[in-house]
Amino acid sequence: MQDIVVDTDQPADEFYADLTFAAAALVKGEPDAIANMANVAALIWQYMPDLNWAGFYRLIGNELVLGPFQGKTACIRIAVGAGVCGTAAATGKPQRVADVHAFPGHIACDAESRSELVVPVVQEGKLVAVLDLDSPLPDRFQPADEAGMVKLVTAIASHIG
Ligand code: SME
Repeated sequence: MQDIVVDTDQPADEFYADLTFAAAALVKGEPDAIANMANVAALIWQYMPDLNWAGFYRLIGNELVLGPFQGKTACIRIAVGAGVCGTAAATGKPQRVADVHAFPGHIACDAESRSELVVPVVQEGKLVAVLDLDSPLPDRFQPADEAGMVKLVTAIASHIG
């Protein structure tokens, strides 16, 4: 197991390049999707400030089912189309929500969550999971966070699902 250090005190593009490099190194050569999701969730949780939840929901049938995560216990099943995660799954597009209270159908797993970023994980053109990040701060996630997380998820997608 290699030592991983990501400097959080650097511009967003460099931070996400380093985080993506670390995530790719963690999943390299490991075929087990659950193990990979667990390590990537832990990596994000360790290095991204101001999160209260970070983890994956896996697409199983027409539902998102709770996968490896860090944070408080969470809703187990989310219908595709429901809430922020379900909207990301239904549209295949990242959802960056500045104020979850203003998002129709938002599912409040942790009442402290104020903003959210959900990125679809797509493998060979098919959705296999979503990565969900929650923050207790309003408007925590900026366009650079979305772009950075999309790159990270793209780099690890073939090792998930
Ligand atoms: N808030 C999400 C549900 C998942 S939890 O935040 C962990 C949603 O609306 O889809």
